[in-house]
Amino acid sequence: MGTLFTEASNLAEGVDFTFIFIFSISAFFIIGISAFLIYTLIRFSRKREKNPRQFTGNVTLEIIWTVIPLIIVLAMFYVGLVAFSPMRKVPGDAMPITAIGQMWRWEFDYGNNRISKDLVVPLNRDIKLNLVSKDVNHSLFIPAFRLKEDVIPGYDNYLWFRPILIGEFDIFCAEYCGLNHSGMLGKVIVMDSVNYNKWYTDLVKSAPAVEPPGLILLRNNNCLSCHSLDGSKIVGPTFKGLYGKKEQVVTEKGEEITETANDEYIKQSITDPNAEIVKGFNKGLMQSYKSILSENDIKNIIAYFKSANEQKQ
Ligand code: CUA
Repeated sequence: MGTLFTEASNLAEGVDFTFIFIFSISAFFIIGISAFLIYTLIRFSRKREKNPRQFTGNVTLEIIWTVIPLIIVLAMFYVGLVAFSPMRKVPGDAMPITAIGQMWRWEFDYGNNRISKDLVVPLNRDIKLNLVSKDVNHSLFIPAFRLKEDVIPGYDNYLWFRPILIGEFDIFCAEYCGLNHSGMLGKVIVMDSVNYNKWYTDLVKSAPAVEPPGLILLRNNNCLSCHSLDGSKIVGPTFKGLYGKKEQVVTEKGEEITETANDEYIKQSITDPNAEIVKGFNKGLMQSYKSILSENDIKNIIAYFKSANEQKQ
């Protein structure tokens, strides 16, 4: 739901008014100045005016074209200030939610690790989003709310809004953050308070996601930035269905052989990643994790790959 013109938050109207105000003034002047230019080209051409007239200063005119633009830019500043300043003043009773950006997805933490993929919020309630990045710079952009704020690692940024329309609205990442930046999408879902409370109760009831230690290791070491879990091709081969899979690989000598992704092969891929490269991928993009991951870490990762395969069946 939502078109380009949907104003779905309390802050949207001020942004739109500022935009239309500045745009109209700019349009008026570009049309006016161009028209005047064309008029003078014709009216004062050499054909019509054989002997050009000379002018010296004109105080009245100079005062007019200084004072009027001054008033106009001050008006633009004022209109912008009125729209912008409430954006940085979070109401004291705003409901806090943490928005987490990471390559390449959004997550919303409602407290105590109650995490949702969508930002679900109750209608007409002030919401404060604390913006946290787990890796690089991102930017949380909700066009229907006319909100965009940078999400920067190590910096406590925030934004707030009050949703004023029920519906689903897009979330984008508006700061280039790597290969799948354009796929870093999300949704805001605005519900009435009854539906919201129901949704929230379900979220609390669903046990907080306890991830297997191997998956946590993959996440914390940023493995998932290059290896997907869902089968999509990023920088390296996907982890989906990895354990026991047969792959064509190219050895360091350039030989093509078939390998099975067993314990030994996975360990080698972690500690000496360039020894054998899966066909279709590039060499030299992965460093050895020998000094970063312990034997036990690697065991946990292999155990995770095994269990991930079993769950599929
Ligand atoms: Cu995250 Cu672009």
